[in-house]
Amino acid sequence: MLRSFLIVLAVLAAGAASAFQGHDDGAAARRTMEEFAGFPASDGDGASPLRVDSEGLQRQIDELASFSDSPAPSVTRVLYSDRDVQARRYIKGIMKQLGLVVREDAVGNIFGRWVGSEVDLGAVATGSHVDAIPFSGKYDGVVGVLGALEAISVLQRSGFQPKRSLEVIMFTSEEPTRFGISCLGSRLMAGSKELAQSLKGTFDSQNISFVDAADSAGYKIHPEDLHTVFLNQDTYFAFIELHIEQGPILEKEGIPIGVVTAIAAPASIKVEFEGNGGHAGAVLMPARNDAGLAAAELALALEKHVLESGSIDTVGTVGILQLHPGAINSIPSKSHLEIDIRDIDEKRRNEVIEKVHQSAIDISKIRGVELSEFKIINQDPPALSDKSVINAMEIAAKQLGLEYKLMISRAYHDSLFMARISPMGMIFIPCYKGYSHKPEEYASPEDMANGVQMLALTMAKLSSE
Ligand code: GLV
Ligand code: MN
Ligand code: MN
Repeated sequence: MLRSFLIVLAVLAAGAASAFQGHDDGAAARRTMEEFAGFPASDGDGASPLRVDSEGLQRQIDELASFSDSPAPSVTRVLYSDRDVQARRYIKGIMKQLGLVVREDAVGNIFGRWVGSEVDLGAVATGSHVDAIPFSGKYDGVVGVLGALEAISVLQRSGFQPKRSLEVIMFTSEEPTRFGISCLGSRLMAGSKELAQSLKGTFDSQNISFVDAADSAGYKIHPEDLHTVFLNQDTYFAFIELHIEQGPILEKEGIPIGVVTAIAAPASIKVEFEGNGGHAGAVLMPARNDAGLAAAELALALEKHVLESGSIDTVGTVGILQLHPGAINSIPSKSHLEIDIRDIDEKRRNEVIEKVHQSAIDISKIRGVELSEFKIINQDPPALSDKSVINAMEIAAKQLGLEYKLMISRAYHDSLFMARISPMGMIFIPCYKGYSHKPEEYASPEDMANGVQMLALTMAKLSSE
């Protein structure tokens, strides 16, 4: 009661909703920090205690983007590649500059901890990923790692002393690019025994094993040790991820902050058809068993089943379609598809998966090809944000005078798995036209600064609980 009264009072006292939007109204900001986060802010040079170094953050984002295997403005940074190793070194360097205690686990999840005064209490964690799918942009994931490090820096400059430790995590391989496994690092952290088991026999498209790839990046994995990545349920008091929205809603509605209430349920499937192949001129149409056409027909069947779900929230994509042997004058003897299906309703998503499976069986019969593989790689449930974290984020937004919208995340994030071992929440910021997973991805310095302030204040509040 008293606390909510103080909050209302402080909102009024902070006056204009834009208390933090200009960076020079230090007194109001300082008062707000003291009243809401419960710690005295240093008066230093009189600047706002939550002042974000937007130029520095942008410089870091640009530097990180230069570690890429495709030409700018696109970014390609695949797990355990040389570029990924450079990026890892870069992130660890910033963590060390900030005085964080750095540790890495067996698969290269990187943790930078600001040790709090109550070391035995669960920490408040944040973080995201810096791996980038082929020809993507420089903000996906990166804002949640470099922005989180800037949030730590903001709190350090403000004079804040954490009670619960604060931790920034750079997760290994949120993107499934190399081994087909999404959120590899956080999935393991959350205790996936199936993944720990299957990684022992996982290979990339070049036939390099997961263990050898990790070795080449400096992580000597003994397959029996993968369970050391698992974290206990009490490791974290809360986990909050800052991310670009990757959709158009915030920008279109002119709202600077999204408070995520749930993350949609993703699934991915690998399919292979095998036919007889043959000469593109000599084999007449009635005699063919074209594995390529079977794949094409399945892609269209996927679209049909998704549209038939009757909900705009059901989405399906064939993101990979490969034909063997891949010659213009050869009938495809093999085809390989990778299918991504998502929905906020898990049951409805599962029904689509079943229909796609049935279609694959029917197509193989009608076309006389073999359905040699229909493998569900992952079929994850959705995740809900925790009420306590949502509450802390809402108070922080009000405190900062930032309008916000409660929304769901249609993209998946490491938060999907962190929710299994910690109360979870996510902060979204707008991105240009909702673009993501392409080079045109962009978030403005102002929007990133708002996100960093939101993260800093939310973490400060939760750390003090
Ligand atoms: C994450 O990158 C996703 O595909 O949702
Ligand atoms: Mn992504
Ligand atoms: Mn991401």
